[in-house]
Amino acid sequence: MYTLITGASSGLGLELARHYAGDGHDLVLVARRRERLLTLAEELQARHGVNVQVLDRDLARLDAAETLHRELAEAGWQIGTLVNNAGFGTYGRLSETTLAEEEQELLLNVVTPTKLSKLYLREMTARGSGHIINMASMAAFLAGPYMAVYFASKAYLLSFTEAMAEEARGSGVRVTAVCPNVVATGFQERARNEAALVGGRIRQLMMTQERAGRLIYAGIRAGRTVVVPGTENRLALVGLRLVPRALMRRLIVPFQRGRDIR
Ligand SMILES: NC(=O)c1ccc[n+]([C@@H]2O[C@H](COP(=O)([O-])OP(=O)(O)OC[C@H]3O[C@@H](n4cnc5c(N)ncnc54)[C@H](OP(=O)(O)O)[C@@H]3O)[C@@H](O)[C@H]2O)c1
Repeated sequence: MYTLITGASSGLGLELARHYAGDGHDLVLVARRRERLLTLAEELQARHGVNVQVLDRDLARLDAAETLHRELAEAGWQIGTLVNNAGFGTYGRLSETTLAEEEQELLLNVVTPTKLSKLYLREMTARGSGHIINMASMAAFLAGPYMAVYFASKAYLLSFTEAMAEEARGSGVRVTAVCPNVVATGFQERARNEAALVGGRIRQLMMTQERAGRLIYAGIRAGRTVVVPGTENRLALVGLRLVPRALMRRLIVPFQRGRDIR
């Protein structure tokens, strides 16, 4: 039985791969950067003696989930745990950002994890065991001006995952949504919102990817349905829920706006 982790070539996916391997899980690691996946596979095999398979695939495609699911079935690799972690964010004023990038974002953050969840939920339900983990974000609890599509994609993923968790109750299949706050990974560079983050205002909130990985893994193991890593972030969420949504979407604007956006 394998643990399938998407987006394992860097950041949180890489950290989770290390934790799962440390607990003796055999892994299937998927992302586009093959060299990085191979380096990680070598490290994990040497350190933990687990079996690690590597697939370089672009998951921002309409048929990516069905193709991956079929490939893994043909290889005879049964998936006991699925971690839908791959994702990215686009940053900028919606009237000026590139539609093609947002389409990729929706495919990667929404379409592929939905399809993979569904395809593996079926198998896991029939088997009476399994675990599906979807990487949402604290962005799921808010509207995010200048990252409108990203925040909305994570709100979708959180809602979808919570609903799936209730449907799966009693089936032997566990379902978890993970909602980290800002973590220092390759994410900021890809979203090109370094200016907003490093330019100041929320830099102090950034967690290292090692700490985030540790807290996320502990939350997953503790069996929580929604994991918000870090006590400070769980407290922030309580505060956030006290503020009316109409006010919150305005309050967040200065935090989201970088040097590039006037
Ligand atoms: N960092 C944060 O502040 C933060 C906060 C909350 C939630 N999250 C979520 O955490 C998840 C992981 O992000 P991260 O912070 O670890 O960022 P990251 O370091 O940029 O990692 C993203 C991973 O997704 C993979 N990926 C990107 N596009 C892909 C594609 N088209 N096909 C297949 N794989 C693809 C990347 O690998 P390749 O480039 O090799 O394909 C990489 O392994 C994302 O879902 C993100 O939304 C991040």
